[in-house]
Amino acid sequence: MTYSVAVVGGTGYAGVELLRLLAEHPEVHLKSITSRGDAGKAVSDSFPNLRGIVDQVFIKPDSQQLAEHDLVFFATPHGICMDMAPELIKKGVKVVDLGADFRINNVPLWEQYYAMPHSCPDLIKQAAYGLPELHREAIKKASLVANPGCYPTATLLALTPLLKNKLINIEQIIVDAKSGVSGAGRAAKMPNIYAEVAEDFRAYGLPAHRHSPEIAEQLSFLAGTDVDLSFVPHLLPMIRGILATIYTNLLDDDVNLQSLYEKHYQGEVFVDVLPQGHLPNTASVRGSNKCRIAVHQKPSSKQLIVISVIDNLLKGAAGQAVQNMNLMLGLPEELGITAVSVYP
Ligand SMILES: NC(=O)c1ccc[n+]([C@@H]2O[C@H](COP(=O)([O-])OP(=O)(O)OC[C@H]3O[C@@H](n4cnc5c(N)ncnc54)[C@H](OP(=O)(O)O)[C@@H]3O)[C@@H](O)[C@H]2O)c1
Repeated sequence: MTYSVAVVGGTGYAGVELLRLLAEHPEVHLKSITSRGDAGKAVSDSFPNLRGIVDQVFIKPDSQQLAEHDLVFFATPHGICMDMAPELIKKGVKVVDLGADFRINNVPLWEQYYAMPHSCPDLIKQAAYGLPELHREAIKKASLVANPGCYPTATLLALTPLLKNKLINIEQIIVDAKSGVSGAGRAAKMPNIYAEVAEDFRAYGLPAHRHSPEIAEQLSFLAGTDVDLSFVPHLLPMIRGILATIYTNLLDDDVNLQSLYEKHYQGEVFVDVLPQGHLPNTASVRGSNKCRIAVHQKPSSKQLIVISVIDNLLKGAAGQAVQNMNLMLGLPEELGITAVSVYP
């Protein structure tokens, strides 16, 4: 059986990455792709990489038309999916939101960080947080999946083995993360133009980036109590990739973390724990759905450094969204997303 899917927001970076993956997916028919501004235009006129692969034209987003699909992806800014998802779900359509509308359970906090009222808070409880390595069974049963943010994906995969095993001081977690420019989306913004970004390296998002409450909430669920998190994102002059360096302290230094991480992620196709002494780099995951993790335990010390890398548009967005779709539709989890990273 082939499933019909739609992408709302097919002109954005996450959206066009979805198109690339879905067009070659063996079990889905990429039926509809929306754009308000480019409606009527051939997708391949905007994205020549899809010429001969995607032959549709963009259409305007329309709830009734979207309801004719088995599953709809929202690769849109926050605030869009929450307005359209309730009706779609009522009609039996599955929804994956790549935006932030259903990622945070604490509604007042979400409203504070996203500066708008939430239009369907009741639906948040029904949504599965779409990090398959943590919530696989819930995702399989869900009609609505909140695809995690890119920084949260890199951070949570790096910290999960420690928190699940209650190995670290949860009052001291420092996440120092760097992203390529595509993380900010395709819409033209002055701070992200070439002359502003090239030859530059900057921190941003302080005092409180929008991914902070998302990471903190998920870490708290893992720890079973509140955690104290310092999260500082940085912008790097590269197109794709996230590298998160995480500093924390062990409660007890008598533990073999290398073997703990290897065991924890044994069998996880998309998480690669590097051998001891190796360090991950963003180029090693570019274009792939992998997260690569290295754990560095200082000898005779409680100090600990964990480093993780992902491609923000794959494991951080579209790749993970397809992984979630596969689970929701009962397909093999890795279908259509096993491409090896491009190198160099
Ligand atoms: N970029 C990343 O690395 C990344 C990673 C993880 C998650 N995300 C999340 O994924 C979502 C998309 O990100 P992006 O980087 O691809 O953004 P983007 O490049 O700015 O694209 C946004 C897309 O949303 C569409 N859109 C905007 N307003 C809309 C509306 N009111 N109704 C329908 N469509 C609308 C736009 O299409 P038209 O204007 O043509 O309609 C465009 O295709 C965001 O929520 C972002 O936070 C992004």
